[in-house]
Amino acid sequence: MKYSTLICDAAVLDGSGTEEKFLDVAISADGTLSVHPHNSGLSADETVNGDGLYLAPGFIDVHTHDDTAVIKTPEMMNKISQGVTTVIVGNCGISASPVTIRDELPNPMNLIGEKHDFIYPEFSGFVKAVDKARPNVNVAALVGHTSLRNNHMTDLFRPASAKEIKAMKLQLRQALKEGAIGLSSGLAYNSAFEAPESEIIALIEEVAAAGGIYTTHMRTEFDGILDAVNESFDSAVSHRVPLIISHLKCAGSANWGRSVEVLKLISERSDSHPFACDCYPYSTSSSNLDPGQVTDAYDIFITWSEPHPDKSGKLLTEIATGWNLSLIETAYKLMPAGAVYHCMSEEDVQNILKYERTMIGSDGLPHDPHPHPRLWGTFPRVLSRYCRELNLFDLPTAVNKMTGLPAREFRIKNRGRIEDGYNADLVLFDPEKIRDTATYNDPKKPAEGIEKVWVNGMLTYSNGKLLDGRAGRFLKRQGWRRLSQAYSLGKEEEISNTEY
Ligand code: ZN
Ligand code: CU
Repeated sequence: MKYSTLICDAAVLDGSGTEEKFLDVAISADGTLSVHPHNSGLSADETVNGDGLYLAPGFIDVHTHDDTAVIKTPEMMNKISQGVTTVIVGNCGISASPVTIRDELPNPMNLIGEKHDFIYPEFSGFVKAVDKARPNVNVAALVGHTSLRNNHMTDLFRPASAKEIKAMKLQLRQALKEGAIGLSSGLAYNSAFEAPESEIIALIEEVAAAGGIYTTHMRTEFDGILDAVNESFDSAVSHRVPLIISHLKCAGSANWGRSVEVLKLISERSDSHPFACDCYPYSTSSSNLDPGQVTDAYDIFITWSEPHPDKSGKLLTEIATGWNLSLIETAYKLMPAGAVYHCMSEEDVQNILKYERTMIGSDGLPHDPHPHPRLWGTFPRVLSRYCRELNLFDLPTAVNKMTGLPAREFRIKNRGRIEDGYNADLVLFDPEKIRDTATYNDPKKPAEGIEKVWVNGMLTYSNGKLLDGRAGRFLKRQGWRRLSQAYSLGKEEEISNTEY
């Protein structure tokens, strides 16, 4: 058998968390992998010498807001340059589809695009658009709870009615049929905050029938975080759907040091329920500027402002002094705006990153003109700062948090591992040189030390340069519990006839 590519002499981390082995890894013409003993002497069109380098499965960014970016900027330089080969979109309750915008784009859907970017009233239209754009990364998508609310409610600042819940359920069911991997919520945001747990549970029933997952940006990450964790579990447990807590953090200075009790509660509850969480490797968060989060306890950095674009890159306190206004008055004057909040303690970030159920997700905001550096720096920063420099975990563990673990938790078949028959998503990197270079002041900088990245067997990025041709695919949910089976048993009827 002749291979298209053979990578030899690299230390292979297979994504499972076990130590590196010296193996030859071959890519077949169909873009799948095979693993051979070292010095196999196999022949290939292209042989890559991996001497001194590590070969890992391509990284999976489990928490992104790349919904419209994968279509508008299919090169996806910010992700591929980090070794990311798959992104999960539709997080925090906001997805680009299925969406119909009537008048104004509700907050925080503006995090993923402008009004004119929301042109996918059906999930299948989004799938088609991604396949047509053929981005450099694979894409799997969640359906956002806030997006569903936007479609069926005119006033988002109240609980959904029985009729509205029924309409949301039907639309979610259809999107799941068309390949969505599950449901996400963003209960901390005003546009979903009034949704009671029962509204989420009703939707989760659909996710359960399809064998999907539930991810949540919890009701709060501040003082009430323990209640929010319990609520997240209760919702997921209701229909036995795997739970993923998004960007787990203890936010707000009054909350610093509480990662210990939060993780203790999570460990107890995840004894009896499938659970994972994601985390980005920074002690600063980023989102829209929210007056509810304005404080003088820590720095707030303005990333963009619609009425005052010149204030991008300045601290809220500086702007307030210049305008001779209070912080809160300044915030209102700047809005709509984006911000970076220095709201976490480094010790909590490390505790959470280290936790065995924690995966890596960037939560990067590609639509932000001055984004948080996590958009370009997350994965190399975990490998350099938290693994190599601070020794929070070893390299096989770090790689597992970006590959094997997320593939399992997000049920992405045949990816996240270097194994025979798996898809050839690969990253070849220098463990000594790898590092993030993106900073708060200069955030759009590619990582160093990523030598080569393959997506579905195609060499896509090499020595700092994008290559021609793109090979990403839309990854539809793969039936762990097959939808067709559930529905052929009459379940579809049963669900649609349920009254709320
Ligand atoms: Zn979020
Ligand atoms: Cu997010």
